[in-house]
Parts: sequence; C-alpha cells; structure tokens
Amino acid sequence: MTVQQNAMQIISPIRESSDEERISARDQMEALNPEAKKLQFWIRTQKNAPAQEPWFSTADTDNTGKLASGQVGKNQLKAVPYRWRWSDYRPYLQKISDIAAGADVAPVEFADRQSIVLMNPGLTERIQVTNTIRCAISIYNPGDIAPAHVHSPNASRTILTDNGGYTNIEGERCEARRGDVILTPNGTWHDHGNDGEEPVVWIDTLDWPLMEYLDCAWVDQDYQAAAGTTDRTQPVRHVDGYSQKLYKNGGMRPTFVSHQRGFSQRLTPLFHYSGVDIRNSLVDLKDETGDPYEAIQMELVNPVTGESVFPTLRYGAQLLRPNEATRPKRETSSGYYVVINGEGYTEINGQKFDWKPNDVIAVPNFLWRRHVNTSSEDAILYSVSDAALMRNIGQYRAQGKDNAGNVIQLEQ
Ligand SMILES: [Fe+2]
Repeated sequence: MTVQQNAMQIISPIRESSDEERISARDQMEALNPEAKKLQFWIRTQKNAPAQEPWFSTADTDNTGKLASGQVGKNQLKAVPYRWRWSDYRPYLQKISDIAAGADVAPVEFADRQSIVLMNPGLTERIQVTNTIRCAISIYNPGDIAPAHVHSPNASRTILTDNGGYTNIEGERCEARRGDVILTPNGTWHDHGNDGEEPVVWIDTLDWPLMEYLDCAWVDQDYQAAAGTTDRTQPVRHVDGYSQKLYKNGGMRPTFVSHQRGFSQRLTPLFHYSGVDIRNSLVDLKDETGDPYEAIQMELVNPVTGESVFPTLRYGAQLLRPNEATRPKRETSSGYYVVINGEGYTEINGQKFDWKPNDVIAVPNFLWRRHVNTSSEDAILYSVSDAALMRNIGQYRAQGKDNAGNVIQLEQ
C-alpha cells in the first residue's frame, strides 16, 4: 500500500465507528501516555485548539483575547489591558529613593537598579508589560551610577522628570530632559547616572522578554576601561546633542561619519530624541487633518534607513487635539502608551482607562482601542509596540472601524 492510499484510508474510514469503540480506542491510547512521557513525547488523544479564534473575523470584542485550549496551547499566557497610575507608583519611587539615600550601601549596588518593574496581570508573575516588552521605572538619586555594560536586548529611556541624569552611549553623553527618548540599541556600551542635585525618574523599555524567549538574552558587564578612566563609566567622546546634530534634519545624512555605532546589525545611529523636538514636530502639524485612528502621529525612525529604530520595537508619539477622539483600531502588535501631556482616556476592548501625565497603559494585540482627549488642551501620548517585529516577520495587520461601525482593513 502506498503512503497516499494509507492516508486515504485514514481520512475515509470504511464504516462509522460507534461511540464505545471511539472511547475504548482513546482510553487505550491514553494508557500509553505515561510511558510516552518518559520518552518525551505525547500520543495525541484529544482534539486540539492550539490557536485562538481568528481575531479579525468579527467586529465585536467577544472573539478576541481568548486563550487557546487543549494540550498544544496549554502553557499559553495572554497579556491583558492594564493601567499603572503615576499617583500609585510615584510614592514607591519616593520610598525606595529615601531608603537608598539613607543607606550605607546604595540599593543600586545590590539590585543593579533602583526601580519598580511593571507586571501585566495576565502574565502571572512575569515582569513584562506585554509578551515582548519589559518596562522598569527607575529612580536615580544624586551620585547614583549604573556601570557601563552592553546587552542583546534593545532598550530605551523615556524621561519623566524635568532635568538631571544622563546616559552615555558609545561615548556620547545624552543629558536627560522630560519627554526625551534615549536609545541604547543592542550592541552599544552604555552607562547611566545622576550627577545633578535632584532624583531623576525614567521608564526603561526593553525587548528583553522576546530575547529571553529566543534564548538570546545576555549582558556583558566586563567593561574594559580606557587609560585614565574608571572601569565603571565610559569617557565622554561626544558632547550632548552629537547624534542629533548629525541626523536631526530629516532627509539629509552626513557622509563623513560611519553610521555603524556599537557592534550589532541594523543599529540606529541616532541615540537621542529630544522631547522638545518631538513636541514641536507634533504641534507644527496639528492643523493637518491627521489620521482618524492615530490623530497627529510621528514615528521615531532610524535616520539612515527610515525604518523603526529597532528591528523589534516601534516608537511613536502622537498629539490628540482638544476633545479629539480617535476611531477604534486593532493590530496584531502589542505595546504600551505613556502619557506625556494632557488628560483623557483610552478604551480597550470596551474597558475605559482614564489617564493623566506619566500613567502607563498596556494594550495587548487584537483588542479594539481608541483614545479620547477629554481636556481643552493638546494631549501627547508616546507609544512603544512590537509592530516593527511583526512587520519584519510578515505578521503585521491592522483593522479599523469607520463612523458607521463597519470594519475596514487598514493593513492586510
Ligand atoms: Fe542596559
């Protein structure tokens, strides 16, 4: 009998089996599973639903965000929509800052960082905001230093305090100011610190969970100091504003420098995005129609290639005009928002999350979401999502709803 004939026989049984026969056959197979487990395999004895329902097939919210079932989908976890309020987490930053300031040994030494790490309730005890993204909110007291290191995850800092603190990336010292986004791409040596007078607070964002899943998360702390410097921090070779001076004028790039900084591939050479520049760019465009789903939005991009700053993470900044409400949109990517200016709410899967400055909101994939600026001033939201990764692996899709509630394919 050929393989094809054999397959045909399985698909087209000669007669219908009875319920008793099916149960008996299943029991016999199930009885083999304890032996099979010792040999590290499983004899399939049940219908599996390794995949969840297709997220795009209905317009409502019932069909999305459900876990798959069955043995194959057994260990699946799903992030849920969630909001971390500044008014809730700020006191804890203050408490750890106070403890650190009063301690003989700074906790930054025993814990690497003084930070709180956000945990999405859908991901049990994992310190992740979504399946691919980790966020820590760090506080650096005057004098704190995070020694030079390099790692495989891509990372960034979104600065929440007005002034103070710095990150040195590959010798470029970036002064931290509110609204700045400072990147430390995979393969760049970096150190952080606060040599100012006041504590500074920023959000660290990393694609660490993704690298962990790929078994590719590593950190090298063994910084080889240059002569005449300490082994904790890098010498300053470029002053604040260096990479901005090279790349900030869009559409032009310098021809006399290497765009390769650090040692990874597809690395953006622009490390520092100024909060003032981001705000001004958005405000300059606020009289344009904008996008019904994203209002006035800019993406931070690699100035050499025009691609997302990291191959994994997409960084956006958007302005919602007074009382502006965006239309519902859902994407295959997931991410988070942090509120830089204004007050309003984001509705996710029918659930309303009101927000104020410095609140952080997780938006998992597949769920309808829309933003509403309820105030009479401009609101500015920053976003980070794994849309870049999804695009790079051919999995990015997005849908929107028109005014009549019809579903529209925004990106197939
Ligand atoms: Fe780092």
